[in-house]
Amino acid sequence: MIYLDNAATTLRKPQQVIDAVVNAMTSMGNSSRGTHDQSIQASMAIFQCRCKLMQLFHAPSPDRVVFTQNSTEALNIAINGLIHAGDHVITSDLEHNSVLRPLYRLEQEQNVELSFVPADKKGCINYDDFEALIRPNTKAIVCTHASNLTGNILDVKRIGKIAEKHGLLFIVDASQTAGVFPIDMAEMNISVLCFTGHKGLMGPQGTGGLCIADHVNIRPWKVGGSGVQSYSKTQPAELPTALEAGTLNGHGIAGLSAALDFIAEVGVDAIHQKEIALMQQFYDAVRQIDGVTVYGDFSTTNRCAIVALNIHNYESSAVSDVLAVDYDIATRPGAHCAPRMHQALETTEQGAVRFSFSIFNTEEEVKSAVDAVRCIAQQQ
Ligand SMILES: Cc1ncc(COP(=O)(O)O)c(C=O)c1O
Repeated sequence: MIYLDNAATTLRKPQQVIDAVVNAMTSMGNSSRGTHDQSIQASMAIFQCRCKLMQLFHAPSPDRVVFTQNSTEALNIAINGLIHAGDHVITSDLEHNSVLRPLYRLEQEQNVELSFVPADKKGCINYDDFEALIRPNTKAIVCTHASNLTGNILDVKRIGKIAEKHGLLFIVDASQTAGVFPIDMAEMNISVLCFTGHKGLMGPQGTGGLCIADHVNIRPWKVGGSGVQSYSKTQPAELPTALEAGTLNGHGIAGLSAALDFIAEVGVDAIHQKEIALMQQFYDAVRQIDGVTVYGDFSTTNRCAIVALNIHNYESSAVSDVLAVDYDIATRPGAHCAPRMHQALETTEQGAVRFSFSIFNTEEEVKSAVDAVRCIAQQQ
């Protein structure tokens, strides 16, 4: 099987990730819940993972790295914990539903006002729009670092400067970029960075989190057991416990920690270059095939390793099925939880077939995928 759905989740994990999960499942107690070796081992493993994430994203301290199940949970914590009735939020057409739906719910239930920076037919935005949309009650800019549909990157450093200039919170969805792009929270002026562990970070599903800048105070979204201050009626105020009620996914976090070691060994830039080389090989070939339409901005390699395309007017789900059944190639059709992006690309009816590459894909696999696209396009 040729797996080209890495933007959904990376299927091939480094062996050390699998070993670390198995090892944790046979040895790890519940972190912060006891003084026996197994609990202490869990606490230490989790703390080490916080430190590695702090280093990777230039977060202010390990306690300001909070674990969640995924970036959806992280985004819900950040958005619901920071944005209140009457606030105005600026976001973009590139967003995933894990940004859009929490914001739409606040719009409906709390009179939060929303403005969208529009994307053009290539999925590109005009950065001046952020500043033009600012109102007296603007509280935050919430946006993705990269579109999960086109792979286009947003210049978060530039957006961060606008947020800083106007005293706005800046919440970034790094689901598609964590592990494959350098991210420096401090330099990019990011207030809250939300990430998921199972995509570019190559960790297990059920891992993710948020990194929180020093000045930012998030109201907990869930409260409950913390292992400390048990007689207090309220959730402990200290991070990370304030936002981590309930037993953490220690087994998954142990795997994520091993994945971070792998990324540190290989290097974020080397991973990105390998993935982009595969993407470029695929893009250069498929764009020449009659009947193929490719979406997104390929004028730069400063992008994610994603190619979304359609073949003639075939339904994207039918094409993806043929790729899976006849060619054993895994891709993702449909709407990709990115409704506004599809509206901008004018692909809401057809959807698109997304090919996304990982460091473990090969040139041979890319060639086979190109041949498959060519064959489908020629069978009119
Ligand atoms: C840009 C973007 N944001 C958020 C998410 C949600 O990630 P998760 O399902 O891991 O919470 C995804 C996953 O597809 C994504 O691509």
